[in-house]
Amino acid sequence: MKILVINGPNLNMLGVREPEIYGELTLKGIEEEIRKNFEQVCEIEFYQSNHEGEIVDKIQSALNNFQGILINPAAYTHTSIAILDALKAVNIPTVEVHISDINQREEFRKHSFVSYYALKTVAGLGLNSYIEGMKALIENINE
Ligand code: DQA
Repeated sequence: MKILVINGPNLNMLGVREPEIYGELTLKGIEEEIRKNFEQVCEIEFYQSNHEGEIVDKIQSALNNFQGILINPAAYTHTSIAILDALKAVNIPTVEVHISDINQREEFRKHSFVSYYALKTVAGLGLNSYIEGMKALIENINE
């Protein structure tokens, strides 16, 4: 089983970026924790980009190559119909994750385009959003 983990814009700044909201862990740290927890059950590729079109390209390239996608679309969560459409196009089981609780922040963060496609959204648990998201994704793929 191969899973693609995608992180969107500004998540490369984790550790430096608003630590009171996003915590102290770097993206590399999060990726290491995901690998440690799931390397026995699946192959994992990590991808981060600050560019919407590059994320669309990456999702398209997952067709026939990955059985699942875990995605934190970051700010594109709230704006990107292109990312939603790419996910619908490849039709690969996808779980959406967020470090912070997007429902308890500004109004504009409450709406997610990706949620129209994602089979589940896990938010507000920090690193554990990724861990719980991976568990749900693997469970769904194995069903
Ligand atoms: C985020 C929440 C988004 O609203 C924000 O734009 C991000 C990160 C999160 O993981 O909490 O960049 O997706």
